[in-house]
Amino acid sequence: MTFLGIDLGTSGLRALLVNSGGKPIGAAERHYGVTHPHAGYSEQDPADWIEALEGAVGELRGKFPEFAAVQGIGVAGHMHGATLLDAAGDVLRPCILWNDTRSKAQAERLDGAENVRELSGNIVFPGFTAPKLEWVREHEPEIFGKIAKVLLPAAYLNYYLTGKYVADMSDSAGTSWLDTGKRCWSDKLLEVSHMRRDQMPELVEGSEAAGALRGALAKEWGLSGRVIVAGGAGDNAAAACGIGALDEGQGFVSLGTSGVLLSARGGYRPAPETALHTFCHAIPGRWYQMGVMLSATNSLNWLAKITEKSPSELTTVLGDELMAPGRVRYLPYLSGERTPHNDAEIRGSFTGLATETTREDLTRAVLEGVAFGLRDSFEALIATDARIEQLIAIGGGTASRYWLRLIATVLDVPLHLPSSGEFGAALGAARLGMVAATGATVEQIMTAPEISETIYPDVSMRGVFNEGYQAFCAAYPSIKAIQ
Ligand code: XUL
Repeated sequence: MTFLGIDLGTSGLRALLVNSGGKPIGAAERHYGVTHPHAGYSEQDPADWIEALEGAVGELRGKFPEFAAVQGIGVAGHMHGATLLDAAGDVLRPCILWNDTRSKAQAERLDGAENVRELSGNIVFPGFTAPKLEWVREHEPEIFGKIAKVLLPAAYLNYYLTGKYVADMSDSAGTSWLDTGKRCWSDKLLEVSHMRRDQMPELVEGSEAAGALRGALAKEWGLSGRVIVAGGAGDNAAAACGIGALDEGQGFVSLGTSGVLLSARGGYRPAPETALHTFCHAIPGRWYQMGVMLSATNSLNWLAKITEKSPSELTTVLGDELMAPGRVRYLPYLSGERTPHNDAEIRGSFTGLATETTREDLTRAVLEGVAFGLRDSFEALIATDARIEQLIAIGGGTASRYWLRLIATVLDVPLHLPSSGEFGAALGAARLGMVAATGATVEQIMTAPEISETIYPDVSMRGVFNEGYQAFCAAYPSIKAIQ
């Protein structure tokens, strides 16, 4: 028996094949773009996801005969995206993504409506799904009138795989339509954003079966027997499953396009006033909290693009030895910010530039700005009594040793690096597929990874980075005032 985990990321799709012991056999990736038709807009064509999925599966099939034994599939997806389908199940417009900030006014209106924060457990951020639908209602009424279903990106792949409209709780909690404490659609939340229950997919837990793989697809992929597709998860909940972060005291820092500091929580304790996100976990009866910054590796990738270097060229020249914060300061708000500011309009900035400023100084400032942004989420989590004594570090940005040292020091917690190359959302998704297909328990499957190395805070630098963080906090209101 083998299992397939699919991670539908912002910049590409990763398909991971694992064996019956949950160990990776092989992976394949396909990349696609994000379009920005106007400032603050961020969209993707769902047809690109399907092409990427088919390409990645084709490669896995060609390389690994074990693919023919796939019995369970799980999908993780970037969260909050609005994929709008008509009554025939056809896509009505490009998917509006999590980092799209066009629906600021709609989000503010919904956020101020009675009981919305109480029921959803969260601020209605412009990146969440409900305000996107309000924007479509106001600006594209013809499309709005044709909407038969709204699917999150992972649920859209579930639909492609099973022919059924099914979403999991962890992803659905990011719509602002879910009663996050009760784990069900809320009629009140749907009503305030002019949506109906019949436009929502069926809800299951991420580790439950969403359905079986469509016969035609199973045949095309050379699979036989009943192949179970799990409910799946939002990418952050899936990554938590991938590293076994299920309970209080377990969590991760993720350096992906977005930066996430996630802490599994013993129960449901929403704290919307902190701009933390409180979402259902992908497994029954559990929740997690996270702080989200919108531009983590996205900041470094942006600098790499405009300096015509690769991200690793930029970071390698810094060496491994941590340097005290430089004079150049960077605010990482390229697409606005969620935690702690909930500010869709703020944009990034460099200050302290001088004629002698080098590319290296800019790189350092970008890495520091992202580390300080993560500290904002850390402070918010600590204030809600989250226990964060250590974290597992995941995501593409962990390739930079310098960045890891910096983050460990700025957060003042040790960062563990898993030894296998596979421990992120794709593994979490495969694990959800395993639980759904075999009936194994969550605790049997979602274990912690082996740790190859721990990066400790540099205590000698703690003081200067605390000062640097205070200066970072003070910069937001002054930059806000001049933008
Ligand atoms: C979480 C969020 C991002 C996306 C993309 O709220 O918007 O982390 O899931 O990864």
